[in-house]
Amino acid sequence: MQDLKELNEVITAIKEEIRQGADALTTSKSVYEFKKTFLDNKQGRIGLLMKEMRNVANDQKAEFGKTINGAKEWANNFFDELDQKLKEKEQQQRYESEKIDITMPPVKIRYGNLHPVTTVRNQLTDIFTSMGFEVYEGTEIETDYYNFTALNTPQDHPARDMQDTFYLSPEFLLRTQTSAGQVHVMEAKKPPIKVVSPGKVFRSDDDATHSPMFSQMEGLVVDEGITLCDLKGMLDMFVQRIFGEQTKTRLRPSYFPFTEPSVEVDVSCFQCGGKGCRLCKETGWIEVLGAGVVNKKVLENCGIDSNKYSGFAFGLGLERIAMLKYGINNIKMLFESDLRVLDQIDD
Ligand code: PHE
Repeated sequence: MQDLKELNEVITAIKEEIRQGADALTTSKSVYEFKKTFLDNKQGRIGLLMKEMRNVANDQKAEFGKTINGAKEWANNFFDELDQKLKEKEQQQRYESEKIDITMPPVKIRYGNLHPVTTVRNQLTDIFTSMGFEVYEGTEIETDYYNFTALNTPQDHPARDMQDTFYLSPEFLLRTQTSAGQVHVMEAKKPPIKVVSPGKVFRSDDDATHSPMFSQMEGLVVDEGITLCDLKGMLDMFVQRIFGEQTKTRLRPSYFPFTEPSVEVDVSCFQCGGKGCRLCKETGWIEVLGAGVVNKKVLENCGIDSNKYSGFAFGLGLERIAMLKYGINNIKMLFESDLRVLDQIDD
């Protein structure tokens, strides 16, 4: 190449080549590669034109150089613009592909919740601890002595028939009542005593409202001058907190070997307010627990002076409370872990 005319022709051809080649480019990366073939300082086609300078007449050298630089500038601008356009397009495409359809219904998140019996146990424990009770957890395997004999129910006592027992050996059994814990507490601790004891108990009993394994909560208060009135007062407070402020209690005479007198405690029906409904079997009252004044013989069995001290005890079934609270009519529903049932019970 020797003169400007020829240079201009070459440059015009290169520009045309760039324009046409650019049509096929779709990504910013391909622009970069394509650009390099023209503008790379060593290999680039436009850059290489500078080498022709030595064949050009001296008076044309300046113009020759300027023309090449002009072409370089043009190509740089051309590629910059193209690059910019493709980058915008790429970004647009990314926006499109990452677009979130906010009208889509969300995937339902399932939250777990505590089992209704656990919830009831926690609620009761909260109520009693706020009244100053300590929590004692006994063991599920007991000896005949703690479960029965110390509780004034010796071997041949007819009251043993009230609780059909799973014996592990003549001496050991699965406790039939959390009352067994009373004896341990009174043996270990001298009055004043104020404990609740939640836990599993076992009886060979199985129907819609009974299960071979169920949960109880025992309460025991022993101090000087404790009477049935203290029991009634405490129970009134307790049932109001668990079933609502309007709830009243009623004591009916009953029998337990370890309490004297013994009572069965009813609460006014929290569903109908006492008028009579299905829940309370039209009576206006619902039985919730057994209780009484601790039998002097039991205090003595535990080494507590029954002339100085007296106490009251109560025991309630946690499944029964959960069934009443949540309107469950078959105790099995609490043990089958059917999420359709458990999902509906969230307190
Ligand atoms: N242990 C008795 C039962 O399981 C309930 C109870 C406890 C009664 C404490 C009186 C005092 O039926």
